[in-house]
Amino acid sequence: MSTPSAVETTQEQISAEIEAVHRRYRESLGKGDPPRCQPNLDFAPYRSTILRHPLKTLHHIDADTIELCSPIFGHHEVKPEESDLTIQHIGSPLGERMIIAGQVLDGEGRPVPHQLVEVWQANAAGRYAHKQDQHPAPLDPNFTGVGRCLTDANGGYRFQTIKPGAYPWGNHLNAWRPAHVHFSIFGTAFTQRLVTQMYFPGDPLLPLDPIYQSIVDPTPRERLVATYDPGLSTPGWALGYRWNIVLTGSSPSGPSRKL
Ligand SMILES: [Fe+2]
Repeated sequence: MSTPSAVETTQEQISAEIEAVHRRYRESLGKGDPPRCQPNLDFAPYRSTILRHPLKTLHHIDADTIELCSPIFGHHEVKPEESDLTIQHIGSPLGERMIIAGQVLDGEGRPVPHQLVEVWQANAAGRYAHKQDQHPAPLDPNFTGVGRCLTDANGGYRFQTIKPGAYPWGNHLNAWRPAHVHFSIFGTAFTQRLVTQMYFPGDPLLPLDPIYQSIVDPTPRERLVATYDPGLSTPGWALGYRWNIVLTGSSPSGPSRKL
């Protein structure tokens, strides 16, 4: 029997596949295998994972050489206003205004200062300001959805933006991504770059999402969900979400590869 196409595959089938992979992982833990905090490279319920990672043995490269041809911070210095995604146009973007803030830490819990943190996200209607996103949700002329900042001396970062909406994607019939913000954190070299996603507490789409669920261990998976922090909220203005990012070490924050 051939594999059903994306339009023929239901959420129930995807959810059953997710549970089967998670069950095999729990069984492997029972046999003494080590816990896994990174996403599975191949995660069948997330159909395109096979296309999203190298199939050949990786080559070691000279870190200095690759710096000569790698992306850099951009064409100009990082300006403080680039961390506010709500002031990039003449008007205010539509949606629920929010603050995202936290600390970038290394695996030993030490702050990582002066690091480039980049974010990109859909607008409040769940649409990216990108030509490849053509789904019929409205664009917002006052929202581009891209920002960046440098961590401070204590590893802290802070963005003001609007809460992104869920959006449909082609993994299976009626597939919707939970609301999320994409993050990139550069270390001290391009080869250390971490790319991941931040999610929101209480989102009903999280248990259904094969990208989020591709981290088979619940402990690192749940670290991708920010915490609502009333102390971070601005009265009468914006909700606050706190999300710390741990880069490496004995308790890393989780996925970096294909999210
Ligand atoms: Fe996305």
